[in-house]
Parts: sequence; structure tokens; C-alpha cells
Amino acid sequence: MSIIKDDYKESFWKIASEIEKEIEKIENAKNVKEKINEIKKKIETLKSGFLSKKGIIASLLNQLSKLDQQQRKELGKEINEFKQEIESFVKSITEKIEEKEKELKYYTNLDLSVNYTFKEKGHFHILTIVQEELMNVFAELGFEIIDGIEIEDEYHNFEALNIPSDHPARDMWDTFYLQNGILRTHTSNMQIRILEKRKPPIKAISIGKCYRRDNMDATHSFQFHQLEGFSIDEGISFLDLIRTLYKFVGKYFGVNSKVNFVPSYFPFTEPSAEMSVSCFACNQQNSQCSVCKGTGWIEILGCGMINPVVLRNVGIDYEKFSGFAFGMGIERIAMLKYKIPDIRMFFENYLEFNSLWG
Ligand code: DAH
Repeated sequence: MSIIKDDYKESFWKIASEIEKEIEKIENAKNVKEKINEIKKKIETLKSGFLSKKGIIASLLNQLSKLDQQQRKELGKEINEFKQEIESFVKSITEKIEEKEKELKYYTNLDLSVNYTFKEKGHFHILTIVQEELMNVFAELGFEIIDGIEIEDEYHNFEALNIPSDHPARDMWDTFYLQNGILRTHTSNMQIRILEKRKPPIKAISIGKCYRRDNMDATHSFQFHQLEGFSIDEGISFLDLIRTLYKFVGKYFGVNSKVNFVPSYFPFTEPSAEMSVSCFACNQQNSQCSVCKGTGWIEILGCGMINPVVLRNVGIDYEKFSGFAFGMGIERIAMLKYKIPDIRMFFENYLEFNSLWG
């Protein structure tokens, strides 16, 4: 015979499993805080009902004195085991409800009733749009797209590109000096960075921010973006440069565009040129055109055959390999293509301007 068998045990586990179920479904309660308190009270009642001085366990132990020694021993053991089961259940269920309470405190503090849907969706900035357009065109022409770095050292920004520290051309590229380097003045640094890791044949472009110590006006900014491109292989000639840029102009500005090259000077190319496209705004027809200022031509980039000194600096055999390079300002292209009159507009964060290209 066992006096605790089975009623008390059964009723204990019945209540216990009901409490467990209630905790599991607590998130569904109408008022979670109230539900937590209700469950806590149930746990307390269960605890005092079984474990307090006047509780079931105590009264069971009292009854033991009426029994003979053998029975006392057996039942005493059984009651103690039951007591331990109750204690460990109460302990774990209390931890569980406290844990839930902590979790729910966090969630119930959130006000999910606010409507966070915006009427208008965001969109890319016009400079990002132009960069993507240019990347697409050059990708179609077989160029890889490689990311660049903005904090440079003087070697990669100048010396390796054949601009020694006493070279007068450094004035054109005056920049900001940092403790650990400089802010790059052009994306041409990527020619060096890429060629230090890769060997020809290679055909790549790199786009990114550049900085110069320029005073702000309608066409100058201390911060702007450039696209640098180059192609190196055996037997690359000036004709390949012209062909590539001509194809680029056709794809980007329209198939009827003409190109014009005039000699120029850059330390990292030899020979060097500046390329203009026929005005896509007036098609060379309007002497009052605001885009080409009536000249019929718009200058858009610098280019040339990579100076053998540059190839030598990156360990490329300049007798075997040759290459061309070109660099253009993204803001300039965007200003021309989208008739934006002032470079400062790109960076002023003026919503009316930004949303023109939404
Ligand atoms: N790095 C030049 C600048 O910032 C642009 C440029 C000119 C890049 C000629 C080139 C090039 O690759 O061949 O003004």
C-alpha cells in the first residue's frame, strides 16, 4: 500500500502540466502581463499546497508515525522522492516564467501599432546612376570592374605614375595629407595597385572618390568621382584606344556622336590626348548651346598610351607589353548628360534635386 499513490501525484502533475502549457502559449494572451501574474500565482499555490508546513507533503510525513518501521522506511523514501520532484519542478518552472517575463518586457515595450510604411520609396543618387550606366557600358566592352581605395600613399598616387616629388605636375594634383597617407587625387592609383597583383593581359576599370585641394565653384569640388580604365596586352596600339573610346561614346552618348582627339600631357601616358565628343545636346547645330558653349564639342576625358616608365615600375616587360589608359570625371559626365549646371548640387543633399532622378 502506498498512501501517496496515485491521487496526489496525479493531481500534482495535472496542475503542473497545465501551467507548462499556459507558459508555452503565453504570447497569445490578451494581456500578457496579467497572464504572467496569474501563472506566478498558480505556481505559488501549487508550491504552498504541496510544500508548506500545512501542505500535502507535511501531512503525508505526519501519517508515517502510524505505520510500522518497514512501511515507514519504504513510504518515507517514496514521499521524499516525490518532494524532490515537486521542488525541482517548481524551481525550473519559476525560472521559465521569469525568463518569459524578461523577454516579454522587451517586446511589450515595442509599439508595433505605428505605421512605418513610407509613401515614397528611396532611389539611387544621380551619381550612382551614372556610375552604373558607365559600368554597364564598359562591362559590355569587356572591361573588368575593380574596386579602389581612397586613402593612398604618395608612391601609388604619384611616384609610380611617373610624377616624382619635384615634378611641376604635382601642383595640378595638390591634395590633403593625412598622418598615414594622402587622400588620392585620381583613380589612376588603381593602375598601379592592380598591376602589382595582376599581370597582363588585363582590361579593367575602377571607379571611386578622389580629392583635391580645390576651392568650390560651379565646376570644381574638393571631392569628386573618377573612372579610370586601362588595357594592357602584347601589341596594343593607339588605334585600340581610339576604337575602344569610340565604341564607348557610341553606346553612351549615341551612335551619331563623333569623337575628336587633341594632344595633351600627362606624366603617366606617352603620347597623351584629350578626347571630346560632338555635342549631344545641340548636335553641333546651335551656336548658343549652353552645354557645348557653341563650340560643338565637349571635352570628356584624358587618355594615352601608358608610359613605359609606369609599366617598368610595376615590373611589366615594356618591350613585350603595351597598353592604353583613360580617366574621366563622373560629375562632369553627369552634368553634361543630365544638364546639371553646378557640381555643388551633387553634394548639397537638397531633396528637390535628388528626387529629380527617382
Ligand atoms: N588621372 C588624370 C586626372 O586626374 C586623368 C587621366 C588622364 C587618367 C589620362 C588617365 C590618362 O588614365 O591616361 O586628371
